[in-house]
Amino acid sequence: MFKFILLLITLLISSSSCELVTPAEYLLKTNSLPADLNFMPSLSNGHLGYTVFGDAIFMNGVYNGAAGNSQRARIPNWLNIKAELCDRFGCAESEANVSRSYEMNLLGGYFSYKQHYPGLDLTLEQRSYAHRFYNRAVIYELLAKRHATAARTNSPQFIKLSSQPGNASSAIDFELINKGSSAAGDFRHLRGHTKVLEQQPFQASAHELHLLFSEPLEQPLQLPWPTWQAELQHRIILSIDKQESVARKELQQLLQLEPAQLLSSHTQAWLQFWQQQFSIELLGDGALELSRIVNAGIFYLASSLPSLSSHQPNEFYYGLSPTGLARGNLEADYQGHNFWDTEIWMLPAVTQFDFEYAKQLLEYRFRHLEGARYNANLTGYKGARFPWESAYTGTEVTNPCCPVIAQQEIHVSPDISFALKKLFAQSKDWSWLCERAWPIAAEVADFLASRASCDESGSCHLLHVMGPDEDHENVDDNAYTNAVAKIALDFAVWTGEQCAQLGNRRRFESWRNLSQALLVLHDQQLNYHPQHLGYRRGDIVKQADTILLGYPLLYDTSATHRNDLDYYANVTRESGPAMTWSMFAINYLDTFDPRADDYFKRGYESYVRPEFKVWSETPRGYAGSANFLTGIGGFLQALLNGYGGLDFIIDDNQPTMLLRNTNVPPLIDQVTVKYINLGKLKCSWSFKYTSSEWNCTAPADQSFKLKQGKLHKLMSGSFHVTLKRGEEPMYINAI
Ligand SMILES: *[C@@H]1O[C@H](CO)[C@@H](O)[C@H](O)[C@H]1NC(C)=O
Ligand SMILES: *[C@@H]1O[C@H](CO)[C@@H](O)[C@H](O)[C@H]1NC(C)=O
Ligand SMILES: *[C@@H]1O[C@H](CO)[C@@H](O)[C@H](O)[C@H]1NC(C)=O
Ligand SMILES: *[C@@H]1O[C@H](CO)[C@@H](O)[C@H](O)[C@H]1NC(C)=O
Ligand SMILES: *[C@@H]1O[C@H](CO)[C@@H](O)[C@H](O)[C@H]1NC(C)=O
Ligand SMILES: *[C@@H]1O[C@H](CO)[C@@H](O)[C@H](O)[C@H]1NC(C)=O
Repeated sequence: MFKFILLLITLLISSSSCELVTPAEYLLKTNSLPADLNFMPSLSNGHLGYTVFGDAIFMNGVYNGAAGNSQRARIPNWLNIKAELCDRFGCAESEANVSRSYEMNLLGGYFSYKQHYPGLDLTLEQRSYAHRFYNRAVIYELLAKRHATAARTNSPQFIKLSSQPGNASSAIDFELINKGSSAAGDFRHLRGHTKVLEQQPFQASAHELHLLFSEPLEQPLQLPWPTWQAELQHRIILSIDKQESVARKELQQLLQLEPAQLLSSHTQAWLQFWQQQFSIELLGDGALELSRIVNAGIFYLASSLPSLSSHQPNEFYYGLSPTGLARGNLEADYQGHNFWDTEIWMLPAVTQFDFEYAKQLLEYRFRHLEGARYNANLTGYKGARFPWESAYTGTEVTNPCCPVIAQQEIHVSPDISFALKKLFAQSKDWSWLCERAWPIAAEVADFLASRASCDESGSCHLLHVMGPDEDHENVDDNAYTNAVAKIALDFAVWTGEQCAQLGNRRRFESWRNLSQALLVLHDQQLNYHPQHLGYRRGDIVKQADTILLGYPLLYDTSATHRNDLDYYANVTRESGPAMTWSMFAINYLDTFDPRADDYFKRGYESYVRPEFKVWSETPRGYAGSANFLTGIGGFLQALLNGYGGLDFIIDDNQPTMLLRNTNVPPLIDQVTVKYINLGKLKCSWSFKYTSSEWNCTAPADQSFKLKQGKLHKLMSGSFHVTLKRGEEPMYINAI
């Protein structure tokens, strides 16, 4: 059960109003909405998600459509409610000079919308959230207040609430099971079935959904508001689950809560996230604006992830799509599918929020090994070939528009192995390594072995591929693909040996052989890595590709890599996605190149919409997806792994934290991160330009290896580390 944690250190809840006192860094306020309402906040809780004022609610794992037409199944957003003030002459949403303000509270995880009517001297506040603890539910709340003691003659007599759910769903057939009266727990109940299966036999039957409403919304609600009454409060709850009993229990419990408890049980869950799991605090002249972007980024990413403590057990989690759980029926929203974005862009940030999230994301891959085997076999290969796009069944669901991408972007499978390696290198969870990472890594290695072709000279190739640079299709030996494939093969061998998979010696040998023989092109004369065979100097590339050989792959960090950076910086498309610039920033930070700061800024400034700090896939002026979590993942990596210099490797068979000299973004003096987990150690970490500091606590028998330059140390128990720029050794004390 959820424990209400009342840590009122810096974040206070005032007892009178039960409202959060929210620091400015967590508050996004505006008086005017974004011109494109796709850039309204996305509110999710890992089970349900919606975009504020949008017409859709989506549910984890619920897709409709066959193969490449599979997309998140839209549930009309019945909780998109319009409030109007009514008197005996009629109703109106607003008057001529009403003032409006909108607020996204990141600390408490809710959106609120205030209308002040100066002529009537009253205020309407509407709130909306996807409940973080009672996570089957989305909530709408209204709070109307008369400010004057004596009601005006023109004061409204009731408030009308009407549901604006948008068009009927084309993905789900709904039937009315019970009309409901709401009074005695007799709820309006809709049962829905998705229309088209994704792929048989992997999906045997349609998804069934049960929607229970705290009150019928077919007709607008008329809430009487006698003119002598100062305040009016009302809430509407919609509870949705695959099981009717779960949805019903959720709604019944919620209706027993006082209005203040309803909100506080939600905000407490978010407070717990920020205080106990993960937060980043910035100091410096530029801290406020950058903090808001950082906090919004963390919020939008984390809200798509499952609650770690919920009223009823969560269902299995179906992954983190590039635009999150709140979006996914449009082509612009990647249909809610999973891509390499999860493992390469989001996971390194998500892992810091809590290992459990990272494990659940990789559990999604583990549970879909069967689909990946099927996909390998269907395309003529062995092992497990993860589809480029994956939804409910784990078979290929790439949009029929673009079969080439599914055929050629094979790097997604070794990307997953790379992510397994990184998570192990930080979590130090040996049983997870053998039970989860090994089965995936082994079958990915089998796939790579069957996909590669070797020539008489003894070198091996991955032919007819597409790398991250999707502007070049059907190329041979894409540098990124081959480098990440080598890492995946080596990791499979290593994991197999660690997990004593002794019967697999021949398999290991063939993987090892292939890893050694797989060619990563190198131009001796120019000392750089051509992106693929036949790459012509000057050809424009879509996004970060070969430069990823430095960070994150750590495959090559030599002078060759520096030449790659300088060269590819000149030929990368202006309209490329945000993560590209974040990767240039991280890689330039590694060599203390002042260009890093420019790339860091470029990686967010023109991608983040000002009002609610919602990310766009493309810079201003180009059309692209909204709530682009992938870009946020790259940005948070730039902060933690770039400026913070943090990375995780397996060194000498041991999970190891790699620390480089730290740096700070422009106009920032200090960054404090709470908490970074190293195995079972829990650490707070702060860094400046000149130094960084770690305070870690752990059960006595726990240890973790730290490495800086040539120095490494095994830290155990609780300890304090100070690192000074350019100085060795580390200053380490037990605490
Ligand atoms: C607009 O506000 C003023 C007070 O600021 C009020 O006197 C006036 O009645 C309002 N107009 C309307 C149309 O309500
Ligand atoms: C709703 O349906 C109408 C009629 O089919 C269509 O014109 C309109 O574009 C739809 N609206 C949305 C938001 O899909
Ligand atoms: C695909 O599976 C079928 C049936 O198990 C098998 O006969 C065939 O050899 C497999 N193809 C490959 C390329 O492994
Ligand atoms: C690996 O390479 C060695 C040396 O070329 C060769 O002798 C051996 O047969 C290869 N093993 C496998 C399993 O391919
Ligand atoms: C990149 O472009 C700049 C400006 O055009 C040029 O001066 C520089 O030499 C180029 N660098 C590389 C590595 O091509
Ligand atoms: C580490 O602990 C020391 C001593 O309590 C404290 O002064 C410092 O602020 C802490 N640093 C971090 C990053 O938690």
